[in-house]
Amino acid sequence: MVLLSKRSVVEPFHAMDILAQATLRRQAGHPVISMAVGQPVNPAPRAALEAARAALLHGRVGYTDALGMVELREGLADYYRRRHSVEVDPRRIGVTTGSSAGFNLAFLALFDAGDAVAIARPGYPAYRNILKALGLKVVEVPVNAETQFTLTPQSLEAAQDREGVRLKGVLLASPANPTGTVTGRAQLRQLSDYCNGHGITLISDEIYHGLTYAGDEASALEVGDQAVIINSFSKYYCMTGWRIGWMVLPEDMVRPIECLAQSLYISAPELSQIAATAALTADAELEVYKEGYRANRDFLQVRLPQLGLPLLSPMDGAFYAYVDVGRFTNDSMDFARRLLSDTNVATTPGLDFDPVDGHRALRLSYAGSMADMVEATRRIEGWIR
Ligand SMILES: Cc1ncc(COP(=O)(O)O)c(C=O)c1O
Repeated sequence: MVLLSKRSVVEPFHAMDILAQATLRRQAGHPVISMAVGQPVNPAPRAALEAARAALLHGRVGYTDALGMVELREGLADYYRRRHSVEVDPRRIGVTTGSSAGFNLAFLALFDAGDAVAIARPGYPAYRNILKALGLKVVEVPVNAETQFTLTPQSLEAAQDREGVRLKGVLLASPANPTGTVTGRAQLRQLSDYCNGHGITLISDEIYHGLTYAGDEASALEVGDQAVIINSFSKYYCMTGWRIGWMVLPEDMVRPIECLAQSLYISAPELSQIAATAALTADAELEVYKEGYRANRDFLQVRLPQLGLPLLSPMDGAFYAYVDVGRFTNDSMDFARRLLSDTNVATTPGLDFDPVDGHRALRLSYAGSMADMVEATRRIEGWIR
């Protein structure tokens, strides 16, 4: 028998389990609508596909510098100029294998085993799992209407008092998964100032940037220069499977991250970096996709409460509705499984995002077509009644 490490014992990502179940059903010929996994149905932008095709004609796909191709890093510096009016030295930008690799690198560079890092609850489950696997202490801070569904200096103080720890890091996503919360510029500044004043590193997950429908979308770069920014081509750019993300690093973190990246990953895939560089020019096409998500959001935020599924948080950004299923069940995992097997609508149990209250919650991704939203809610209505 293999003796496994204690740190490898992390919760399964239930969304992926539901996805596997949905794939089996689809293969068996069932008309599955997937609202389980957070990925756009749209393909990568045309410019990205063309650039990848052209690169393949040369045939040679190799390693790049550990922190990524110069063209991509320069393109990303331009992204901050265009979108946030912030000047970033391209040398502070590191390209990663999806933002997922960025989290590993950031946590390894910033924290030692046993250090305490705060995340929001509900929040993206991989945060908890990666932190735990690296031997860090996860401090889950509840976010709710009282905290405007985001982390605040007050809620961080309260969590530290409650758990008897001092934080080394705070990880905030805006827009957030699964709540859709957009943490506005003023709130972000408060959080950044609090972290800077208390020797805490703020890690700002900006992977849903570009997908804000209400509220002001700000980068932590706009309110301070100490935060670590993590972002990705997976969501706005519709490139989940290309596995390209990036980090913007404080100056003195660049070399340590480069050394870690050299050994952990060598580099992000070159072909994907070439495609990602071209994707940065595709805003016009991507804005059309975004308008599609907005229409889905407008539809669902009226329709879901009508079905007895009230929203647990406002749908301001990303592409998720997080709803209360407490009227129907106390076991969101069982609810999601039955919903899938009875109606072929795949959703994600709240348990993924919130081990405490998630048994009464469900997340629905609306990165699909309007026709799917209409049909999925029609099936749910017939099933729930
Ligand atoms: C909040 C958040 N951060 C990070 C990720 C990871 O994305 P990727 O590794 O594809 O960049 C996801 C994926 O769903 C997410 O929801």
